[in-house]
Amino acid sequence: MMIWKTKISQMMGTKYPIIMGAFAVIGKAEFAAPFSEAGGLGIITALNYKNNDEFREELRKMKKLTDKPFGVNFSIMPPYFIEQRGRGRDENFYLEFTDTAIEEGVKVCTTSAYQAPKIGKKLHDAGCYWFHKCTTMKHAISAENAGADAITIVGLEGTGFKNPNQNTTLINMTMAKKMLKTPLIAAGGIGDARGFLAALAMGADAVCFGSAIMATTESLAPRAWKKKCIEQDIFDERFYKKIYHLTLKDSAIHSMAVGHCDEIVSIKEFIEDKVNGAIKILNSWGFEGTEFNTLEK
Ligand SMILES: Cc1cc2nc3c(=O)[nH]c(=O)nc-3n(C[C@H](O)[C@H](O)[C@H](O)COP(=O)(O)O)c2cc1C
Repeated sequence: MMIWKTKISQMMGTKYPIIMGAFAVIGKAEFAAPFSEAGGLGIITALNYKNNDEFREELRKMKKLTDKPFGVNFSIMPPYFIEQRGRGRDENFYLEFTDTAIEEGVKVCTTSAYQAPKIGKKLHDAGCYWFHKCTTMKHAISAENAGADAITIVGLEGTGFKNPNQNTTLINMTMAKKMLKTPLIAAGGIGDARGFLAALAMGADAVCFGSAIMATTESLAPRAWKKKCIEQDIFDERFYKKIYHLTLKDSAIHSMAVGHCDEIVSIKEFIEDKVNGAIKILNSWGFEGTEFNTLEK
């Protein structure tokens, strides 16, 4: 039994320093609730709800499924993206959703992709935490200057919103730890216990799992997609190019993290495997404590 104490697990109020990724289409209560139940912070992705009423209904559903803490993600499209497509959600679209999340008792909201200072202010005025997710150091510095309480930097190994100037998770975390004061969340390519522990060693105060939980029992991804994640040869040249040469563009496809996925397991099994595996590694190195505490670091 290990107690995990980091600045971010304390803000999230979770047993473990683990946060769920945002997921277009499938980031809904049935997927997020078991993640919260298993000791991480489950995330409802607001993009999946047509309007504020539907969103509020989903938050209420989530509260029926779990009494553990959970968060919300607002994925904000950059202006050029909205212009290109002729539609999309900017920060203003989510201001009413933010009020709803606050009213429904959500304590942590994550914003991603584009800057979100108005949402951040609303959250802070209500005593809530604002986590921002980005892909480059430049945007992480902006998020720190805007007052985000935690910053996720998604590494090149990862998926979701990609950037041509993206660095690897290793460079992101080790450099951001030196350059920023804000607590960090590692994301991108993490899928096993060693990666989880390594991210914490690199300076992260929490770890975000995205692709690696696609093939869990409770994931709302279609069966065929789960099978694809499990069978994916991440060393296949075409896949490699999709991820690292950015031919992936902005499409939501699983990342390098699925290299660690070889069977469908429950979210509880997935999380326990990472946490217990990390404890095993720590023990093998001679660490015999019962508290993993990075609060002073
Ligand atoms: C199917 C899928 C959909 C995603 N949709 C979103 C999204 O709507 N908004 C967002 O900020 N990130 C989205 N992401 C990115 C994840 O939240 C997370 O940042 C990323 O998966 C981390 O990298 P990893 O997949 O290597 O763990 C998505 C990822 C996947 C696999």
